[in-house]
Amino acid sequence: MKKACVIGWPIAHSRSPLIHNYWLRKHGIDAVYERKPVEPIDVANFIADLPRSQFIGCNVTIPHKEAVFRAVGTADRIASRLAAVNTVYLRDETVFGTNTDGEGFIASLYQSYPSFVLRNKSAIIIGAGGAAKAIIGAFLDEGVRRIGIINRTADRVLGLQRQFGAQIYEVNDVSAENGLRACDVLVNATSQGMEGQSPLLLDIATLKPGALVADIVYTPLETAFLAKARRQGNPVLGGLGMLLHQAVRGFELWFGVKPEVTQELYDLVAADVQKVHEQ
Ligand code: ATR
Repeated sequence: MKKACVIGWPIAHSRSPLIHNYWLRKHGIDAVYERKPVEPIDVANFIADLPRSQFIGCNVTIPHKEAVFRAVGTADRIASRLAAVNTVYLRDETVFGTNTDGEGFIASLYQSYPSFVLRNKSAIIIGAGGAAKAIIGAFLDEGVRRIGIINRTADRVLGLQRQFGAQIYEVNDVSAENGLRACDVLVNATSQGMEGQSPLLLDIATLKPGALVADIVYTPLETAFLAKARRQGNPVLGGLGMLLHQAVRGFELWFGVKPEVTQELYDLVAADVQKVHEQ
């Protein structure tokens, strides 16, 4: 029987098994997807041994994405740009690594807002870490014209400018008000607002009414930041859709079928998020 898994440390809270096992059942595929705890010290060996293991591939989560990028035989353009791998698959004994976080965000956006146009638009992203980089890369691929970055540590914005070029600019406390006025899509790509973390405090009163406000956080399903945006009339996008859509390409690479992100799947995972939230 085919087997795939998600590796991380710790891994107990990963919702990837819920997603992939739903699709396996849906498509009648005789395979399982499981959680696999892998300690940091064992990651390189786990990846090197994958062709001789019981697994046909894996997802990769915190804190292993960078280590797996270094460990795979071949990383594609997207993974190389981010220096991080979240999806691993095998072809002829070779271990391939890719990264589906950026496309997951884009697919989630288009599923909720099918007529939203990113080309030539102006974006602001809060954050400069791995998630922010994945979304920047995907935005540039979609033709977004300018991307402003709001980040606690300004130095990291310089790094993003060096990597992605002149379309990236820094948004600071002084320029935020005007920056937000011109912005078509605003994304929180930090963990601020997540349960147990500090809230995201950004004044978004100057946003234009049609500007889309998105969050990568999905615990809670709607963050206080998104609730505020929704109350002032902006279209909003929660983080759970990105989690579901980033899983699509891995499933297709391992099992040969492109699965769908249905309302039923959304509700299944949302109920699990809610359940933990209430505990
Ligand atoms: P990830 O790969 O999940 O994006 P990361 O690389 O650690 O994680 O990046 C986390 C991002 O959230 C960073 O932009 C970080 O800001 P700094 O670059 O200043 O560290 C931001 N972040 C996390 N917690 C924050 C907080 N309490 N206040 C402001 N920014 C925060």
